[in-house]
Amino acid sequence: MQNLEVNNQLAPNLLISKSSEMQEINNVIKQVAITDIAVLITGESGVGKELVAHAIHSNSSRSKKPIITVNCGAIPEGIIESELFGHEKGSFTGAIELRKGYFELAENGTIFLDEIGELPLSTQVKFLRILENGEFMRVGSSLPKKVNVRVIAATNKNLQTLVSNKLFRADLFYRLRTVNIHIPPLRERVEDIIELANKFSADFSIRNKITFTGFADGALEILKEYYWPGNVRELKNVIESLLVINHANLISQSDIENFLKKYESQNSLETERGLQLYPIKNELEERVLIYRALVDLKNDIYEIKNILKDKNLVSQNGVENLTALPAHNCSLDEMERKLITETLENFHGNRRLASKKLKISERTLYRKIKEYGLL
Ligand SMILES: Nc1ncnc2c1ncn2[C@@H]1O[C@H](COP(=O)(O)OP(=O)(O)O)[C@@H](O)[C@H]1O
Ligand SMILES: [Mg+2]
Repeated sequence: MQNLEVNNQLAPNLLISKSSEMQEINNVIKQVAITDIAVLITGESGVGKELVAHAIHSNSSRSKKPIITVNCGAIPEGIIESELFGHEKGSFTGAIELRKGYFELAENGTIFLDEIGELPLSTQVKFLRILENGEFMRVGSSLPKKVNVRVIAATNKNLQTLVSNKLFRADLFYRLRTVNIHIPPLRERVEDIIELANKFSADFSIRNKITFTGFADGALEILKEYYWPGNVRELKNVIESLLVINHANLISQSDIENFLKKYESQNSLETERGLQLYPIKNELEERVLIYRALVDLKNDIYEIKNILKDKNLVSQNGVENLTALPAHNCSLDEMERKLITETLENFHGNRRLASKKLKISERTLYRKIKEYGLL
C-alpha cells in the first residue's frame, strides 16, 4: 500500500531547534501531545511537518499504537473514500471482500493526513463528521461506526485561499485551524541551519563510515546565506552530497561555494524547462490520475480473475470473457505507453522529472521505456 505508512520508530521525541521559533514549536508539541485535539501543521515543503506529526504521536499516550500516514494527494479521487473509511463486501464492482479503511486501522493511534488541501470536497464532509464525533460509515454501509483516532493534518497550501476558491470547506477549515502549528521556512530561522548541518553530517558520516572532521571556518556561513527553497529536506540532501563528493576530512568554504553554484544552475535549468509546462500541467496531472486509477482497476481485474479461476467459477458464472482479456497490447497498455511518451516529451526526455510526474520510480520508468521500445 504505497499511500500508507505505519511507523513508530521514525520520530525522535522532539525536533532539532536552535531558533526561538522551533523551540516554541517543541513546546507546543509537548502541550498538545497529551491531549486528543486535532492539529493542523502548515509550512512549505521540507520544513519538517511530518516530523512534527511523528513527534506529537510519540510524545502522546498513543505512542505504542500505530501512526498511519495517508498522502491525500496521492490517492485517486474515485477510491479515496474507500481507502479512508473502508468498504463493505460487494459495495461496488471489485469490492470482493470487506476492507477496513485507514481510520479503522489507526484505532487508538494517530492518523496523519498529509496534503489535506487535496481532499475532494465530497470527502471533506465525511472527514468533518469523523473529526467532530469519531463517526463514519464504510462505503456501501449505512451503519455508523465509531473510532478512537487522533487526527493530525498537514498542508503546504494556503487553506484560506482554497476556502475562498471554494475548494476547501470553510467549516472544516475553522475546525482544523483551532490548533495550528506553522513551521517557518528554513531561510527565516538561520540559527537552525548550523545545528542541522552538524547533525546531518555526523549522522551520515557515521552511517556510511566516512571520515569527516567538520566544516572549515566560513563554510557554514555560506549555508546560512543560501535561500533553501526545499528547506530542511534540501539542506539534508546537500550535506550528504557534499560528504560524498568531497571525500574530504574537512569541508571548506570553497567546497560549498562550488557545489551550490553548480547545484543552483542545475535547478534553474529545470525551472526554465518546467515553465513551458504550465499550460498543460492540469491536463497532464488529470491524465496521470486517470492512468493510475486504470492501472489499479486492471490489477483488481486480474486479482478477481485469479480468484475466480482458483474457485473454478469462471465458466460456471458465464464470465469467461474475463479470461479472454488480452494480457498484452490491450488498450490500457497502449494508454500507458502513450502517457509515458507524452510525459517524457514534456520533460524533454528528463527521466527523473517524468518519473516524478508519473509517480513511479525512475527504475520502473526505465523498465517501461525498454518494455515499450521507447529508447
Ligand atoms: N528540525 C528538524 N530536525 C531534524 N530533522 C529535520 C527537522 N526538520 C526537518 N527534518 C528532516 O527534513 C526532512 C524533511 O522533513 P519532513 O517532515 O518530511 O518535511 P515536510 O513534511 O514538511 O515536507 C526529513 O528527513 C526530516 O527528518
Ligand atoms: Mg511531507
